[in-house]
Amino acid sequence: MEKIVVGFLGCGNIGCGVYKLLETYGAQIEENEGVGFEVRKILVRSLNKSRAWAIPSTLLTDRPEDVLDNPEIDMVMEFMGGEQPAASYMVRALENGKCVITANKMALATHWTQIVRAAREHAAGLYYEASVCGAVPIIRAINGSLQANRISSVMGIINGTTNYILTRMANEGAAYADVLADAQRLGLAEPDPTADVEGYDAAYKLSILSTLAFHRHVPVENVYREGITGITPLDVQCGKEFGLTLKLLAVAKEENGEIQARVHPTFVPNSHPLANVNDAFNAVFVKGHACGEMMFYGRGAGDLPTASALVSDLICAAKAKRHELPAVSEAPCRMAEDWRCVHFVRMRAKDEPGVLSLITGGFAAEGVSIASMVQKGERDEAGFVQLIFLTHRAGEHAVRRALAKMDPAQASAESVIRVEE
Ligand code: HSE
Repeated sequence: MEKIVVGFLGCGNIGCGVYKLLETYGAQIEENEGVGFEVRKILVRSLNKSRAWAIPSTLLTDRPEDVLDNPEIDMVMEFMGGEQPAASYMVRALENGKCVITANKMALATHWTQIVRAAREHAAGLYYEASVCGAVPIIRAINGSLQANRISSVMGIINGTTNYILTRMANEGAAYADVLADAQRLGLAEPDPTADVEGYDAAYKLSILSTLAFHRHVPVENVYREGITGITPLDVQCGKEFGLTLKLLAVAKEENGEIQARVHPTFVPNSHPLANVNDAFNAVFVKGHACGEMMFYGRGAGDLPTASALVSDLICAAKAKRHELPAVSEAPCRMAEDWRCVHFVRMRAKDEPGVLSLITGGFAAEGVSIASMVQKGERDEAGFVQLIFLTHRAGEHAVRRALAKMDPAQASAESVIRVEE
């Protein structure tokens, strides 16, 4: 059988995972699918570095042109990570008519228009299942199996590192910094955890997911983003007492012709399927007008789970009679500037007659209705207590305005966390 010739851009853990999967399972893929692959060149930064899988040194090169401009190479797999030079390399490969398969959500989200346009203009395939949630087949589901649906919402736990941290905080009552340090020691969080814990990684992925779900480009700059660094064990505990579980959720909704795309710590009721997605697992909960509610669950990171999606894209690309490009309009989307949801508000308030009525009056003046309230613990030395409020669904701006007007000598918000139901 004639083999499809493949070039790699990068050969870290993911690249080694792909090489390993092709080496150990390639023959079976050939038998099952009738397509075979040969890796011909691998672009690396260092030719002498030791790698997680034995890669023949004859395949390695440090010259990008050996992959990008090599007429023998049909398909380019990119797993360098980062924005540049990955994005420019993908564009160059597409302009050379090569099919590109990538796991790189950052390059894809930040250079979406340029990369998709290069694929369209050169009739070259662009495949990116691995860019969102690793092995979980959410891209193909949205682009394919759910095509007959008007999707109204996509909500997911799409970052494993933060889910691991929040799961341990919930189970152990531990502080964020302690769990993060432990995760770093175990190699489960990066030495510089910013991309994960500040929500950037999830924002790139949500930009891609919402663009596909709503058929309009949702630029990553339009994704609202808040990370988990300010989350305290007290918030997690108070949420538990209301029957809520805290997650870093990526939420995209289309309501009244406007799109909201946001990544932030979010409480979900314990009965919600996303509440039971723990440790480093990922899950995406989708609502479509025909399919109803469904959830996709699995491993969102790691060498073999990511390789599973990449090699599956490789097979798909090899078998495609015509490469499908995302069905996304170039017209700008209308982003919502405000949105409505239940809010969890933890306040530090003076324990004196009339203070509660000041707070509820402040909410009422902005049209925010309170669903429940509890007072927690004992007064501190300054005479303040903790009050926890759950609002009914209310506009984000209205809640913020009400809180901003409160007199800190009487009451001030220590945390505001959205609740999705
Ligand atoms: N760092 C990501 C996560 C995996 O923790 O889920 C790659 O996107």
